[in-house]
Amino acid sequence: MSLLDRVVIVTGSSKGIGFEIAKLFSERGAIVIVCSRSLGQSKTAAKKFRGTTLALEVDVTDESSVKKFVKAVMKSFQKIDILVNNAGYPYDDTIWNKKIHEGSDDELEKIINVD
Ligand SMILES: NC(=O)c1ccc[n+]([C@@H]2O[C@H](COP(=O)([O-])OP(=O)(O)OC[C@H]3O[C@@H](n4cnc5c(N)ncnc54)[C@H](OP(=O)(O)O)[C@@H]3O)[C@@H](O)[C@H]2O)c1
Repeated sequence: MSLLDRVVIVTGSSKGIGFEIAKLFSERGAIVIVCSRSLGQSKTAAKKFRGTTLALEVDVTDESSVKKFVKAVMKSFQKIDILVNNAGYPYDDTIWNKKIHEGSDDELEKIINVD
């Protein structure tokens, strides 16, 4: 499948797994939307790709932030072809190493809100 000029959003692509996924799409000719809660980090990451990119800020737990983000993508490229919903709750020793019955509602909610 050709990815040339496909508009691809990879959430949480400023670093980690999302960054590597975004890089692969970029190498295959896609237009990649690099995003995270930090515009600065998204811009720094996007500069590492050779193809067309757009660095944006988005917090996936915040509906108004997501709407603003989608508007910005549509304004620039008028379409979204692929969404990689990679952003997830970060690794947190104090939460992930607990047994399910040891976690609090608050901790579970934090994870679910991002995931
Ligand atoms: N690494 C592993 O071994 C592993 C294993 C299993 C599952 N996972 C899951 O895979 C996903 C990526 O893992 P990773 O290791 O690449 O994580 P990472 O290095 O911590 O990167 C997470 C990315 O998501 C962004 N992000 C976090 N919260 C966000 C939010 N609310 N809205 C928008 N962006 C957000 C981060 O940027 P900002 O913080 O600046 O927003 C960053 O760009 C996570 O869901 C993780 O739980 C990872």
